[in-house]
Amino acid sequence: MHDETTPPRTDEPDIYALEDAIEPPDLPGEVVVRKILDDLYHEMAAELVVHAKNCVRMFGDFHIALSGGSTPIPFYRTIMTDPAFRDLPWKFTHLWIVDERRVPFDDEKSNWGQLRQYFAEHADIPADNLHPMRGDHPEADVAYERELREHLAWREKGQDRLDFVLLGMGDDAHTASLFPNSPALRERERLIVMNDGEQVVPPPRITMTYPLINASRYIAVLVTGAKKSATLRTLAAEEKPPVQEAPIMGIEPVGGVMKWFLDGEACGGA
Ligand code: 6PG
Repeated sequence: MHDETTPPRTDEPDIYALEDAIEPPDLPGEVVVRKILDDLYHEMAAELVVHAKNCVRMFGDFHIALSGGSTPIPFYRTIMTDPAFRDLPWKFTHLWIVDERRVPFDDEKSNWGQLRQYFAEHADIPADNLHPMRGDHPEADVAYERELREHLAWREKGQDRLDFVLLGMGDDAHTASLFPNSPALRERERLIVMNDGEQVVPPPRITMTYPLINASRYIAVLVTGAKKSATLRTLAAEEKPPVQEAPIMGIEPVGGVMKWFLDGEACGGA
């Protein structure tokens, strides 16, 4: 007979409690934590699919801006190869770049050089919808801003913003190419600027600015790995670091969503 007082068995793992074991750090916006990297990529990819489809339904197209760096590469591989994400509406997608090094595409440091192997060569994005930053051109910032404004101008006023921006974060709390104490942090009007300075990791950069990123409909910040956990701890502390020292704290969506996607290691867990 079943005894109501029998305590629950403790020798079996409570699979539903696993995720709760990691306390999400106190960061601005929503925070998603998954212990396992693949779970994290799947979570973010599933949101991306829903969001992209909604934008195509509402506006007829979807404008996404992606970051370089090493963190998002396995995520890019997931969305390109996992059949679960096959219905991403690539044909109606415009691909933009969050930031770029001022080098030609065939330089190994070029973000576009890295990303094009996934998206330009394997996704069904029409060639005219691919928008690399010509980092090595002297007026690449002005040209890219013009290109962005022209494409978004097709939409009605107020809807002329990026739909999804994927950001990463450096150990020094930079995001995009918005580095601590660099001139680009002060930009309030322009959408794209060149950036350089003592704390800008060489080579010099070209980057989306706060006004453009913060106006986006959805900002995802993907941070993984133990190497980033100390920085996340600083950002989550009660006394928040100033934007000049931790540029990622300048990401404050105006009417959009900001979601952090963190794995267990980044949160200091195993
Ligand atoms: C870039 C990025 C940059 C990046 C961080 C984190 O082009 O490098 O846009 O902001 O996201 O530096 O880089 P990792 O993912 O390599 O740690």
